[in-house]
Amino acid sequence: MSVSSDRIIEPADALVGEVELPADKSIAHRSAMFAAVADGTSRIVGFPNAADPQSTLSCVKALGVRVEEAEDAVVVHGEGLHGLRAPDGILDCGNSGTTMRLLSGMLAGQSFQSTLIGDESLSVRPMGRITSPLGEMGAQIESTDGHAPLVIHGSPERLRPISYRLPVASAQVKSCVLLAGLYADGETSVVESKPSRDHTERMLGLSRLEMGNERIITVKGGTAPKARMWSIPGDFSAAAFMLVAASVLDGSLIRMPRVGLNPTRTGLLDVLRAMGADIQIQNEREVSGEPIGDLVVRSAPLSGIRVDGEIVPNLIDEIPILAVAGALSDGVTEIRDAGELRHKESDRIAAVVAGLRAMGADVEEFEDGLAVTGGKPLNGADIATHHDHRIAMAFAIAALAAKGRSTIRDAAIADVSFPGFYDTLDRIR
Ligand code: S3P
Repeated sequence: MSVSSDRIIEPADALVGEVELPADKSIAHRSAMFAAVADGTSRIVGFPNAADPQSTLSCVKALGVRVEEAEDAVVVHGEGLHGLRAPDGILDCGNSGTTMRLLSGMLAGQSFQSTLIGDESLSVRPMGRITSPLGEMGAQIESTDGHAPLVIHGSPERLRPISYRLPVASAQVKSCVLLAGLYADGETSVVESKPSRDHTERMLGLSRLEMGNERIITVKGGTAPKARMWSIPGDFSAAAFMLVAASVLDGSLIRMPRVGLNPTRTGLLDVLRAMGADIQIQNEREVSGEPIGDLVVRSAPLSGIRVDGEIVPNLIDEIPILAVAGALSDGVTEIRDAGELRHKESDRIAAVVAGLRAMGADVEEFEDGLAVTGGKPLNGADIATHHDHRIAMAFAIAALAAKGRSTIRDAAIADVSFPGFYDTLDRIR
């Protein structure tokens, strides 16, 4: 990825057109990993060329899995639960936390050693949250003060099943433990009190039990995922930028076909609607076990809102763009219970607060969130993106709605999840 890719963004009047979104990153990572250890051949239709899912695909190939890449699909020749092979070199997870955390679960159960590295952003993200439960299962993992590089001394006979209560709402930690559970001798369970995205449970067909406000997800050791066809929907997290952009730019109308609408992902839809957004869902249907639909968004005046509690994990990746929406709404938007944002590709609370302040917004920073007072125009500014795709895209949208030109530093980092993001904006402005 290019290091110097600053991008000038001029204000826009309106955005009008149809946008084809990149395929869902969370589902893509999982489809490639599950297909790799399935018995037989899987076809993944619409596998995205975004950098993060491509990191997973490279790792899977480095583990001895044959992958054929065609125009519209990748074909993965699964090696079975115990068929992965020791990689020749290190496994590079790039910027992708999902690659590192989910793959670690699988690698803990292999009979070889592997080393996982990441880029400068991933190398400072916390890995103790996975090495701790994997350690309880008997895995041996070396880290550097709880950070990557991770050296995983896999050994299937050492893994024991555990029941693990998630200390943070994290689908990556949940999935890591469940994937290690595939290699444990017996049933491994994860207990979560705040529902995080449930793609792993859906895609592996795991049993789920609701107990009061908790959910218990259980995997049976020794059961390989089924080889199958996956069709990946458009990424709601990518749609989020368009939903906010069209809402705040008068006269806009954007249609997005085939968007994933898994309820554990669409918290932003509910929040934006409560703020006054005009968003319609058409042609609701199901594809590969995930609800999808076409989204149509028209501009509408937004008012501020308070967002906290249970909904936060269901819009965690959308908070940077939600904060931008807040800055462009009437009244105060306050986001709390979102301390996890400090551990994403950047410290997203600090990055959003700094970016909005640079644009002249009134923002208060809290340890677990922020409050922004809208109602006055944003000014074009120079925005630091901290090697974080969602910060770059959120502020590119803010820049469209600002007065004067903005510069988004390291703008190409958007390719991590949304290649062609800026070209798409140029096409529909
Ligand atoms: C993801 C889970 C979330 C999310 C990330 C993707 C996943 O991370 O922020 O972008 O695919 O499981 P956490 O598990 O750290 O909350």
